[in-house]
Amino acid sequence: MEHVIHLTVNGTPISGRVRSDRRLVDFLREDLELTGTKEGCGEGECGACTILMNGVAVNSCLVLAVEADGSEILTVEGLARGGELDPLQKEFAEKGAVQCGYCTPGMLMSAKALLSRHPSPTEEQVREAIAGNLCRCTGYKKIVEAILAAGGRGRA
Ligand code: FES
Ligand code: FES
Repeated sequence: MEHVIHLTVNGTPISGRVRSDRRLVDFLREDLELTGTKEGCGEGECGACTILMNGVAVNSCLVLAVEADGSEILTVEGLARGGELDPLQKEFAEKGAVQCGYCTPGMLMSAKALLSRHPSPTEEQVREAIAGNLCRCTGYKKIVEAILAAGGRGRA
């Protein structure tokens, strides 16, 4: 069965027609061509598909597109504004927190949700916020440093 959904994605109102079992990650990546959001495990274990739904970090592989009806979605493509990278993106680049980059969009979105709640988080809060985001490359240290550096600076 198909449903028409209306949602806001990165500030733009969007309507779409989706089947009941269509996952949000597929709707974003395939229908909207927002391929910044990655799929890793597809089971809620790796965090690569993390996006913000009404300001809350969620695994978009576990959310149905119909469940996002009426919601406000932010993906990694919506982080930069007016040609300016988000402070988190700048710090990830500056601190060398990106290696293969596969985990990066999900990490950024989990960090974004954290900084919205706690603009100057502690290291413990940062580690807790990204506990569901797996990174096979960096050992997490530089990622944590980048999020701490972005904390308290500019919009979050
Ligand atoms: S792809 Fe969604 S949590 Fe791994
Ligand atoms: S940078 Fe490769 S998985 Fe994190």
